[in-house]
Amino acid sequence: MNPSERLQQIKQKALQEAIPIISDEGLEILSFLISKHQVHRVLEIGTAVGYCAIALSIAHPVEVTTIERNESMFQQAKAHIALCMMESKITLIQGDAQVLELLDPLPFDLLFIDAAKAQYQKFFEKFSPLVKVGGIVVCDNLSFHGFADGTQVALSRDLKQLVRKINRFKTWLSTEDAWETSFLSLGDGMSISFKK
Ligand SMILES: C[S@@+](CC[C@H](N)C(=O)[O-])C[C@H]1O[C@@H](n2cnc3c(N)ncnc32)[C@H](O)[C@@H]1O
Repeated sequence: MNPSERLQQIKQKALQEAIPIISDEGLEILSFLISKHQVHRVLEIGTAVGYCAIALSIAHPVEVTTIERNESMFQQAKAHIALCMMESKITLIQGDAQVLELLDPLPFDLLFIDAAKAQYQKFFEKFSPLVKVGGIVVCDNLSFHGFADGTQVALSRDLKQLVRKINRFKTWLSTEDAWETSFLSLGDGMSISFKK
């Protein structure tokens, strides 16, 4: 079985187990950005089982650094990266996304934020300085399954609070002068920000 076939198995297993992975549309957007803007170095916050990192590494000449805090996800990602023979292209780091000191100091061309939704602004502020001028930050799940764009109504207090945080982040991002941001309703809602 080749790495692409193994990747499809990883995807199917993740979907069966309700592990959140990037949508096909989201992956297409990342692939488009990587090809169009000559992206070579990618930083991903939130690896889960490694699906997105592996998919990008198979499809493009990129190096991906990806951070995962959950032990079980980390172990699964590690096994999947080995299974797809992508160890030389993917650096997997275990830890909370505060592990800045473990990252090498070279700038990244693209930062993909796909971890705890309540902390997006914190992640953006922490990691976007590592992105080069002209580089890109992509944030996923900004519609949060329709709850954050008003197509579904959040009922529980926790969900309402999370939706408020996501919407506050979107407002904050849209007014950040150092970034040129577009919001897409593709996939589960994405932002694409270019560093000025
Ligand atoms: C949506 S999943 C990532 C999916 C992955 N990007 C993909 O498309 O294949 C989010 C992951 O972020 C991880 N996560 C949440 N908060 C984190 C944090 N503060 N630091 C590192 N990982 C975190 C979760 O454990 C979860 O596995």
